[in-house]
Amino acid sequence: MNCTRKVSDDIVWVGADSRRLALFEAVYSVPRGISYNSYVILDSHTALIDTADRAVTDRFLENIAHALGGRTLDYLVVQHMEPDHSATLFDVLGKYPECTVVCNSKTLDMICAFNHKEPRALIVKEGDVLDLGSHKLSFVSAPMVHWPEVMVTYDNTTGTLFSADAFGTFGALNGALFADEIDFDRDYLDEARRYYCNIVGKYGKQVESLLDKVSRFDIKMICPLHGFVWRENIDYYVNKYMHWATYKPEKNGVVIAYGSIYGNTENAANALACALFERGVECVMHDVSVSEASYIIADAFKYSHLVFASATYNGGVFVNMENLLHDIVAHGLKDRSVALIENGSWAPTAANKMREIIARLQGVIEVSDKITVRSSLSDEGACEITRLADAISNTIKK
Ligand code: FEO
Repeated sequence: MNCTRKVSDDIVWVGADSRRLALFEAVYSVPRGISYNSYVILDSHTALIDTADRAVTDRFLENIAHALGGRTLDYLVVQHMEPDHSATLFDVLGKYPECTVVCNSKTLDMICAFNHKEPRALIVKEGDVLDLGSHKLSFVSAPMVHWPEVMVTYDNTTGTLFSADAFGTFGALNGALFADEIDFDRDYLDEARRYYCNIVGKYGKQVESLLDKVSRFDIKMICPLHGFVWRENIDYYVNKYMHWATYKPEKNGVVIAYGSIYGNTENAANALACALFERGVECVMHDVSVSEASYIIADAFKYSHLVFASATYNGGVFVNMENLLHDIVAHGLKDRSVALIENGSWAPTAANKMREIIARLQGVIEVSDKITVRSSLSDEGACEITRLADAISNTIKK
């Protein structure tokens, strides 16, 4: 039984959902699953745009066969060699041995490195056009969105941009294919942001460069390798990407991430959250021992102010907080207002150590002196928290 969907008269989605994956890329939880998208184009020559993850091999191969309806596969366009899109490449070539891989030279090197064999390949570069009959596919290099070899493909005939990882989202499709079939803003935007920030957040400049390159096309549809196809309101999602790529916050507000062992650092964080809301400042809280880093990073991209509150642990930063801060640095976030709270019963050091890590971020401004809690929040400490809430509120309302 196939599970394909028509994207248009002669383009067919042949991907598959996975809802049993514990961690995407072995790091990111995907409690609502993930889709691995792939597309068949039926023309004088047939083409497949990318393959799919090993986990969905059987369904994927069935879907391709169904979409082809007995025809053979002439071309396999490989846009991205990360195994969630390429693990089944030789399974496809095994079923369609006359198929020619279409890729750039970097991709071919990666195909050989992953598989220790070389397929028949047509090497293309930016600006080259593959003529399938009525569909004319142009290739655009998109280095570091999200690996160096990535290229995206524009179908000049239908105005379809096959965008590789760009414009993807976490979450299974669950039968829907088009973003206009679901309430994307309500139900998927947070997961799309988490996907963007964690997968390509580090590469804002490269995302901007890709957006600039494809802006010359008359894009009528976007077909990413994860998530929904966009055929309506495309500017909404393109504008989100343009915004995210600049690292500018989407909202004035505060992310409070805290690492607390026995609840006293958490109490200081809670006191700050209460004081902020009393001043009309929106804030979200994350216990770094509970929230996966990917969710905190997505909120750090979303909001203007970040407060890190950490117990002192082994003479340094509480381990989950230290990992989070290194992760934020690795994702290249910049231009945020920050405040630090530390707790320590005999030798508090966490704030200075946190400062050393976040000093590697560009454009970070501390809105206030660090606050030191000695074991538990005192009356004097509560006053400091109030002053911090004032300082944050004042910078937001300026
Ligand atoms: Fe969905 Fe970079 O692979």
